[in-house]
Amino acid sequence: MPDALETLQRQHLAALERRYADRLDALGYDGVLIYSGHPTLHYGDDQHASFQSYGHFQHWTGQAGLAHSWVLVRPGRPTVCFFHAPDDFWHLVPSLPDEAWVEHLEVITGRFDTAPEVKVDRLAVIGDVSPQMVSALGADCNPPALLKALDEGRVRKSEYEIACLSEANRMALRGHRAAREAFLAGDSELDIQLAYLKASRQRESEVPYGNIIGLGAHGAVLHYQHYDHLSPASRRSLLIDAGCRYRGYCADITRSWPGPDADPAFAALVPAMHEIKQQLVAALAPGIGFVELHEQMHRLLGALLVDSELVIGSAEAAVTQGVTRAFCPHGLGHLLGIQVHDVAGRIAADGSPLPPPNAHPALRLTRELEAGMAVTIEPGLYITPMLLEPLKSEPAAREINWKLVERLAPHGGIRIEDNVVVTQTQPRNLTAENE
Ligand code: GLY
Ligand code: MN
Ligand code: MN
Repeated sequence: MPDALETLQRQHLAALERRYADRLDALGYDGVLIYSGHPTLHYGDDQHASFQSYGHFQHWTGQAGLAHSWVLVRPGRPTVCFFHAPDDFWHLVPSLPDEAWVEHLEVITGRFDTAPEVKVDRLAVIGDVSPQMVSALGADCNPPALLKALDEGRVRKSEYEIACLSEANRMALRGHRAAREAFLAGDSELDIQLAYLKASRQRESEVPYGNIIGLGAHGAVLHYQHYDHLSPASRRSLLIDAGCRYRGYCADITRSWPGPDADPAFAALVPAMHEIKQQLVAALAPGIGFVELHEQMHRLLGALLVDSELVIGSAEAAVTQGVTRAFCPHGLGHLLGIQVHDVAGRIAADGSPLPPPNAHPALRLTRELEAGMAVTIEPGLYITPMLLEPLKSEPAAREINWKLVERLAPHGGIRIEDNVVVTQTQPRNLTAENE
């Protein structure tokens, strides 16, 4: 057990107990039972889908894949983990990790595929619980006010959580280095994925999101979900968006690499996108609105489109006419934590909704930044025919260098994504620290 991390975890849990006590008292509950969840069966089959335990369960235990288990929080009394480890000769029985939470919580091992019996007057139960479980418990199920309050409690990360996010970055970057080498060696998307998994020490069902590994034009498909088995005929570009989990906490890192067969105009765009990412990371500070930062990304992108001669007109016009949105249709970033797109990105601290602006519906983070928030910064530039083609019938068409667009299309796109913690002083770039 690395001592420093365990000390941080104890502090994290003590703070969590105080925060839960405060929220439960305020909402009139004597306790909350958190269910980790369970894997679902494929329809008409006896095989299970892969499984990830509920975020609020992981907040206490970091156990990302532990099914049928529960955490019971009651203000003023020890927090209990009912750890599902039934006798089983078909499967390996889960064992407790060598981590501080096992000593800090009261852990009861056993069989818990039905809810444990708990004696609490005003009880809430949260998670993916069945109606049978709820009626057996006599509890309020997933009360929205409590869920909102607990989500809000995950927005500002503890020192422990930041240490875990940093370690997840370190592990993911090992995979990114191996993936780049595999790309330069001419490997297929599948072989790049296998190289990534091997170097980052993960099986595919453990990654926090499906790794996006796009060679050439596939790099423009934002959530490209396949892995070609065949080596590419030419090595123009790789876009790899791949993460890792450490004690539940996610890394979410994207790198774009030009290959030996890249058009020099594409190769020149890659360091320029790194520079845009750097500028946006440097701007992260408490009190900055993320919507404003997202709009700043569009202004920087407009300038790059003009500098690189993809756009002939002005950078301002490229933004106002929606040209930058056609080159980058996703948001600048999102909150990061136990979930890769972490909770409460579009809700203000007082609980009021903060929907994204109409012009930027994909933006997942619309809050003002605060110290302790972990965010991704992921500017992108893609040649997406489905989004660019409609501009041909607009006035903006005259300002786009269609010949260059066509030349770059087989390279797909570029995204550079780092994981950064907002602090009272300089932002802390967990990706750059581990690169
Ligand atoms: N990997 C998904 C995202 O960057 O949001
Ligand atoms: Mn992301
Ligand atoms: Mn990503």
